[in-house]
Amino acid sequence: MNVVETKNLTKFYGKECAVDKINFSIKKGEIFGLLGPNGAGKTTTVSMLSCLIKPTDGDAIICGYSILSKSLDVKKRIGVVPQDIALYPTLTAKENLIFWGQMYGFYGKDLKSRVDKVLEIVSLKDRQNDLIKKYSGGMKRRINIAVGLLASPELLILDEPTVGVDPQSRINILETLKNLNSNGLTILYTSHYMEEVEFLCKTIAIMDLGKIIALGSLNELRILVGEKDKIIFSTINDIKEDIKYKISKIQEVDKINIFEKSLEVLTLQGRKILPEVTKILWDEGIRVKSVEIKEPDLETLFLSLTGKTLRE
Ligand SMILES: Nc1ncnc2c1ncn2[C@@H]1O[C@H](COP(=O)(O)OP(=O)(O)OP(=O)(O)O)[C@@H](O)[C@H]1O
Ligand SMILES: [Mg+2]
Repeated sequence: MNVVETKNLTKFYGKECAVDKINFSIKKGEIFGLLGPNGAGKTTTVSMLSCLIKPTDGDAIICGYSILSKSLDVKKRIGVVPQDIALYPTLTAKENLIFWGQMYGFYGKDLKSRVDKVLEIVSLKDRQNDLIKKYSGGMKRRINIAVGLLASPELLILDEPTVGVDPQSRINILETLKNLNSNGLTILYTSHYMEEVEFLCKTIAIMDLGKIIALGSLNELRILVGEKDKIIFSTINDIKEDIKYKISKIQEVDKINIFEKSLEVLTLQGRKILPEVTKILWDEGIRVKSVEIKEPDLETLFLSLTGKTLRE
């Protein structure tokens, strides 16, 4: 079942097209990553999906409801963690959560137990009575996430939740999202950090200049660009040219480069062929000092699709 399905979703700001007829779907229980550089259209996309701004054209169906005609039904089912932090600095973390909970229409025991639960999830229970202005950037982000979780959403939408956070909070955020997802929560995650998207997301859409330029699993995206894994063996003794022939017999091997004391094998299946190549070297009396597999990353893919880097 799809929790999100966009249909030629489009947004113009005046004459400028910020989101250009995008189509993607998010399956129930999946973490979906929207990866793109500054100005790609990520925030505009998630703002439309959160019913904060209206599309110029197209539609999206969320949990079975149209963002155009059933925005109230959509809003009830989603939690949104915006790019800009929306907290009151002069209130404590707990007071902020109570405020937001009341805005959602919760009160009494139910509200208290919701606040306790989300504080637990973001591991800030022990700091709940501190003023937000005393929080670090990362801790504020975690409370921002807690707000998004208050209404027990079916879909959590996060817009670059780790920008400018300390490493500890960053790890905490990523781990928290993994845990929430393993308990069944569907997540839409936007970022311009490819490492995060690679770590978290099952399906990834790469966005640039308002368009989705690639969509698929990490493996599918790697294959799409035709980038190959490079296995590099450093050896103790010299490698002779004739070993090339033996290694090239392995079906998945695409190219072999031999240097005096190192060997490079290019393949789409680095991890799979590693034992076979190692055995050939061993049988030939070549002793391996170290092995490294370099897998192409999303940065390489983005570069090959757009001619620029993600962080430009
Ligand atoms: N309210 C607005 N009015 C006019 N133009 C806007 C508005 N919001 C965004 N844009 C433009 O739309 C394009 C997409 O912006 P958007 O904020 O969606 O990108 P983004 O991928 O979220 O970028 P970032 O990584 O910097 O947050 C940009 O060219 C931006 O200048
Ligand atoms: Mg943005």
